[in-house]
Amino acid sequence: MRILMVCLGNICRSPIADGLLRHKVKLQKLDVIVDSAGTAGFHIGAAPDARMCATAKNRGISIDDLQARQFETADFDRFNIIYAMDESNQSDILKMARDDRDRAKVRLILNEIYPGENKSVPDPYYGGDQGFEDVYDMLDAATTKIINDLNT
Ligand code: 4NP
Repeated sequence: MRILMVCLGNICRSPIADGLLRHKVKLQKLDVIVDSAGTAGFHIGAAPDARMCATAKNRGISIDDLQARQFETADFDRFNIIYAMDESNQSDILKMARDDRDRAKVRLILNEIYPGENKSVPDPYYGGDQGFEDVYDMLDAATTKIINDLNT
């Protein structure tokens, strides 16, 4: 199984989703590949935002080594599931889909824990530290659900 996490910049939300899921996959020794990307190219090559790295470190995981990259059409071939953090990311990804097979891979990540509600992970970039804590909590819950489903 190969899973891709996608947000706008690939420096706040998708890196922590990626880091949390990688951490849980490793703990459970599952055969799952996890990666992340951004729909925009502003931060290509950059490490995750320092505030997201600090929140992660406080909670016991490191995402310092991740590097931002831009989502590309080939990602539809590389991954089985593509999780968008918000509806804008989802719509940008769907615009690049070539066919129904590609479209079927795209999901909103919070629908894993709030099925059918189409909730978005709020972008913490322009806000305060609490935003990063909240994003961590939401994505911790969503990635636990994803791992539990992979185990069943
Ligand atoms: P992310 O947050 O999509 O969660 O990585 C953002 C990071 C950077 C920008 C916007 C959102 N930006 O406009 O630079």
